[in-house]
Amino acid sequence: MRALDALRIQLEWGADEALDAEPLDRTAPAAPRPAARPSPALPASVARPTLPGAPARAEALAAAAETIEALQAALAGFTECPLAATATNLVFADGNPDAGLVFVGEAPGEEEDLAGRPFVGASGRFLDRMLASIGIDRTVCRITNLIPWRPPGNRNPTDAEIVMCLPFLRRHLALLRPTIVVTLGALSTQTLGGTTAGILRLRGTWRELALDGLSAPVAHLPMLHPAYLLRTPARKKEAWADLLKLRERLDQSLPQA
Ligand code: URA
Repeated sequence: MRALDALRIQLEWGADEALDAEPLDRTAPAAPRPAARPSPALPASVARPTLPGAPARAEALAAAAETIEALQAALAGFTECPLAATATNLVFADGNPDAGLVFVGEAPGEEEDLAGRPFVGASGRFLDRMLASIGIDRTVCRITNLIPWRPPGNRNPTDAEIVMCLPFLRRHLALLRPTIVVTLGALSTQTLGGTTAGILRLRGTWRELALDGLSAPVAHLPMLHPAYLLRTPARKKEAWADLLKLRERLDQSLPQA
């Protein structure tokens, strides 16, 4: 089949978007898989075990921070989290700390790790487009992550790492005093929301988030993660419905956003 015909068929089948930066020939024979080799021993910095008192120290450091700057400094000094040793930079937050709207992602990837800013890679560019579609940008919201250091190789954070990062995120949110928190993806939604229900069931429904030091619970909207939407474009219509719900609530509660 000529390349142009192949392209035409893809368009007719509804492929209207490139998923990868480089073309990939999925019809090419698969390369032989190399024989499995035993994993090499991890370097000491990667294999560093979690220190037993780390969650308690995380709680104490986070609770003692009276300002966002103090919280960022406390996090930067929290070397007990093994992820701090392997990351290039702490990825604390981006956007406006005075905004009443906060987005919480999962963990930085490679580009975020290098830049020290959340959501600057492919999923971040897509997040910016999602925000623009409801007329907002990073000047009217705050963006942060559940985990502030890149897990090596983008692996999932362990339960122990989540437990020791959570007090910092909760304190960050309490200091920001937001009106609305949007969690992006299953990990931040389930961890902050204290639930194991799946993101496809949770997304698009307003919940409430109680935070220490705040007298009233905060409105919480779980949404699908932009990276998942890039991999699963058929789900974008649900994300669009959720963005419209968010826009509606912003019009009621944050007219400036
Ligand atoms: N994915 C996230 O959840 N956070 C980032 O900062 C980047 C990608």
